[in-house]
Amino acid sequence: MLAMKPSVKRGNVRVGLAGAGRIGEVHFASLLRDPRCGTVKVHDLDVSRATELTVTAPDARASVARSTVELFDDIDALVIASPTPTHLPLLREAISRGVPTFCEKPVAMASADVERVAAEAAAGGVAVQVGFHYRFDPALQELAAEGWAGGRKMLRILSTTAFAPTAEYLAGAGGLIADKLIHELDLVRWMTGSQPRSVCALTADEEAMTAALVVTFEDGGIATIWGGYESVAGFDLTVEKEDASGARVIGNRRPLSNKPLEVPVSTVTDFRERFMDAYAIEIAAFLDVVAGERENPCSLDEAVATQRLVDACAESLITAQVVPVPNR
Ligand SMILES: NC(=O)c1ccc[n+]([C@@H]2O[C@H](COP(=O)([O-])OP(=O)(O)OC[C@H]3O[C@@H](n4cnc5c(N)ncnc54)[C@H](O)[C@@H]3O)[C@@H](O)[C@H]2O)c1
Repeated sequence: MLAMKPSVKRGNVRVGLAGAGRIGEVHFASLLRDPRCGTVKVHDLDVSRATELTVTAPDARASVARSTVELFDDIDALVIASPTPTHLPLLREAISRGVPTFCEKPVAMASADVERVAAEAAAGGVAVQVGFHYRFDPALQELAAEGWAGGRKMLRILSTTAFAPTAEYLAGAGGLIADKLIHELDLVRWMTGSQPRSVCALTADEEAMTAALVVTFEDGGIATIWGGYESVAGFDLTVEKEDASGARVIGNRRPLSNKPLEVPVSTVTDFRERFMDAYAIEIAAFLDVVAGERENPCSLDEAVATQRLVDACAESLITAQVVPVPNR
């Protein structure tokens, strides 16, 4: 175990932030709102983005790092919010320097890579928390706390957005399942606490803007995930959980009707609006981990298990087969 730096002991954590885009901006605000965070140093390949963000910080608590070398200089913790292909190299650098790190999902594009970096972090005793923020959403936590036991165990999830990311973003991020539905795949693992047995993934449109996933579990439960970008009904995350104890729902579910009803356009703009609280709680948890005050709530081992589901979905899309999920 590495010795805790004096700045961390004083509750004056110096954080490095890689990436000042959509999610980097959210994490920047959460960090600055937390009294334990002293300063945030922001590195973005687009220096103007980093500058725009840092000037919004009160009391000169933020600065710009013009290179990765500057970013890693004198920091106690790192938040990686840069594009997906940059996660592994930045994380490896952080682990080699013993810097506890919050890394946005996905850590890498294949579970074998996540497994390797998890082994490196474990060998170095470096805490790495992964950005599966649904786990920190108070409403989803309440549903998860009810458990998943007995009877017909079903999870029914609908996850849509009003807009699609740019083609350039999607190319680097790996598409709908690898970039977005990875959250829902993590959610079904976390919420059920069960080992997935198999997955089946289908997409019908050429651009793969919509998909349907089915996950079966060792304990006889089943989860279905409908996902899509550019829904005319806008943003939604509806989660219905059913077992012997009852059926409960979070989201945009409408009453039973015997005639077609118009689905009202969502009033939620996007994930940042829906999950603002969850993101702040997630970053506060990371600062707890940095201070040695709590166990890592979302470790690389969790990311490995979720990435195996993503890998299995990718195989299912290609083979049009039901794919078993390895449990190693
Ligand atoms: N957990 C979540 O809810 C959530 C939401 C959105 C994005 N993400 C993840 O966060 C990451 C960033 O997504 P985004 O939507 O913020 O993207 P974005 O395109 O809005 O922002 C990325 C930023 O990183 C900068 N950048 C590019 N290369 C860099 C490098 N080598 N070092 C530092 N900065 C660099 C870009 O200039 C840009 O400003 C992705 O991996 C994505 O999967 C997670």
